[in-house]
Parts: sequence; structure tokens; C-alpha cells
Amino acid sequence: MTPPRHGGVATSESSIAPEEVVGVAVRDALDIVDANLVTFGDRFPHDNTVDEVYQLRPAVRGWGQDLPAGSNYGWTTSFWSGQLWLAWELTGRDRYRDLALAHVESFARRVRDGVDLDHHDLGFLYSLACVTPDRLVGSAEGRCAALAAADLLMRRFLEPAGIIQAWGDLSDPAEQGRGIIDSLLNMPLLYWASKVSGERRYAEAAERHTRQLQRHIVRDDDTTFHTFHWDPVTGEPRSGSTHQGHADDSCWARGQAWGIYGFALAYRHTGDATFLRTAARCADYFLAHLPRDGVAFWDLVFSDGDDQPRDSSSAAIAACGLLELAEGLAGADGVEEPTFSGEIDDDATTRVARYREAAVDMVTSLAERYTPRALGAQSNALLLHGVYNLPRGMGIDEGNLWGDYYYLEALVRLRRPDWVPYW
Ligand code: GLY
Repeated sequence: MTPPRHGGVATSESSIAPEEVVGVAVRDALDIVDANLVTFGDRFPHDNTVDEVYQLRPAVRGWGQDLPAGSNYGWTTSFWSGQLWLAWELTGRDRYRDLALAHVESFARRVRDGVDLDHHDLGFLYSLACVTPDRLVGSAEGRCAALAAADLLMRRFLEPAGIIQAWGDLSDPAEQGRGIIDSLLNMPLLYWASKVSGERRYAEAAERHTRQLQRHIVRDDDTTFHTFHWDPVTGEPRSGSTHQGHADDSCWARGQAWGIYGFALAYRHTGDATFLRTAARCADYFLAHLPRDGVAFWDLVFSDGDDQPRDSSSAAIAACGLLELAEGLAGADGVEEPTFSGEIDDDATTRVARYREAAVDMVTSLAERYTPRALGAQSNALLLHGVYNLPRGMGIDEGNLWGDYYYLEALVRLRRPDWVPYW
């Protein structure tokens, strides 16, 4: 089977109907969440598996304290809370909600005690762990902690560049003025903060930051830089670079997936159709550079025949992004047909169907080829064969918490089309 010219995923060898695949995949995923609930409870697993098994997050000395194993630090802990909320929405079983509410206490303590907050990932952390319980069950503690996190994120907004600095202390010369594509998923915390506080400044910062990424982190050929640097004094755009991709000028697969999902969400929050067009450009490039089974290699420069690992988490994120993009396009009146660098001539309706189909095929491929059940693996991850950070030797060909979360979110989106995103 040859890969389709403009995307779509060449995976339709499955003889089982997609609804059936999703039903079985949800059951398998919930079995693993149930087992992890017993193993981890209100403690947190590490970012990625080692030999396909999550262990507790290691004990560390940091942020003025000794943190025992399983403590709440790093950027990924909320993906465990997020899985619990998804499981609760799927089943209504109290055990998921009760544990996720215990996590709220941990996140409230974390923001109060200043544990590992010097980065933009406050959005990943507090949208899932605290905004979601506020929205779903009216958690006042969640709302308060999420607002505190949004205020910290706002401190990272740099004038005159109009971007949110990704990493490190604001005075650190190596990090000053660096924005990254992943940050698009951190912006919904600011849109939410504007809504609950009535203050426009959060949403304005998020929109300016997203616009800068749209202008500079997305290249003319529809690929993306992982990170981009602005002059912290003048605000002038300087140059792109990578941190987790193969090369500065290659296209890191997960970054491109963050682009699809992040720009589609920017449209949901702002109504600006140019963000939807940018999401579509990212999607078309991603889909046109997939291997036969529809699950990207860790960098899109690689394809079938390359001896390189896949990043299953990029497929899970892309599937959620494609579904969000399709929903946006289906509802976006008067969105002009985008101008693409490729030869794409289909209309919006065809495009909606194509993105939905690609998402279904990708999730089917993940369920049938990348889960412990499919692989006969003894693992407590929902998905295997992800990559965290290959250049730095971290989490290569392992499961990871965000891959698990977005895989379950994609399953929820397919099973419940009326599901309201946590972002
Ligand atoms: N946000 C960090 C990553 O995608 O690895």
C-alpha cells in the first residue's frame, strides 16, 4: 500500500470496525488505569517507563526541600490526573474522581510551596489537574490554584517580544527570549483565567504569544521549529533551533503535533480563522510525512526504512489535534480556503472528512500495534514506543505519561463527540 499523497493514513488493513476498536481499546486502557490507581494512588509515576514499566518519580532534593519518591514535580504529573478525569467521564465511577480530587490538593500545595514552577508548562499541569476539576465538579481549591498558576505564567510574558519564555529563570541569558511550540497547549490556562477573572490581559497575552509562534515558529514550507529565539531587549525575531528534534532545520514530530493541536485550540479560544489555517498547514505536512502504519518516527525527517524509533505520543497528540481541527473547520463559517505550499485543492467538507478519517486510522493503528495488549508486553503504560528526548538519551522507545493521556483523550473524543476539551 502506498501512502496517500496529501495525508490520510495508510493503515486500513484492520478488519474490525472503528467503533469496535475504540470499545476494546477503552476497556484495555481503563484496566491499566485501574491497576495504576492501586500502584500509584496520589503519588506520581515518572515521566516515562523504563523497560516498559513506570516507577515512582524519584526522590529529589530541590526547591528548598526533600521530596520523597512519587512527589509532584516536573511537567508531566498532571497527565496522570487527566487520565483519571477522562476515566471518570467515561464511566462515572467514583474512584477516579476521588483520587483526581486528592491530586488537586497536591497541585495546590505545589503552587503554594513554589515547587518547580519556573517554566511555561504550568498550563499542562494546572489545566488538567485544577481547571478540569473546577469545571467538572466545582472544585474551589482547583480554581484558586489554577488562577495562581496563571499569574505565574503571566510573569513569563516578555515585552516587547510578546512571547512567553519557555524555560528557566527570566534572567538566565541562555533561555531569555526563547519560545517553544509545545507552549501552545499552555495557552488555554490563560484563556480560562480571563473567563473566570473577567480580566482580558491573560487572553491578550495568550493571543499575542500564539501570533508570534504563527509568524516565526511555523516555516514557509509548513514545518515547525521546535524553539525560536527573540531578542529579549528589542523583541526582534532572531532564529529557530531545536532541543528535542534531529536538527535545527528538521521537523520534530511531536512539535508538529503540538502545532496541529495548539493552533486548532487557539481557534476555539479566539475565533480567529487564521489559526485554523495554520493548524491545517501543520496537519497536512504531518500527514504527508508518515510511515505506512501512520505512527510518526520521532522526527519527520525519518520514514520507512530508517532505523529510528517511532514516537507514538506524537500520533496520540496529532489524533486529538486532527479531531479538534475537523470540529473547528466543520463549524467555522466563512473560513477562507487556506493557501498551502502543497497542491491541495479539496474544499472544507472534504478536508473535515479527511482529518477525521486520518485521526481514526491513527488511533486504530495505535490500538492495534502500540498497546501492551497488541504487543503482548507486561507494561503499565497505555501506549508503548514513544520517545521523550532522543538527543539527550531520555525515554527512548518507551511509554510516557503524555502519550498515555492523549491516547485516552483521543479515544474519549471518538467515543463521545460531545466531550468538552480540558484545554
Ligand atoms: N513539552 C515537552 C515535550 O513535548 O517533550
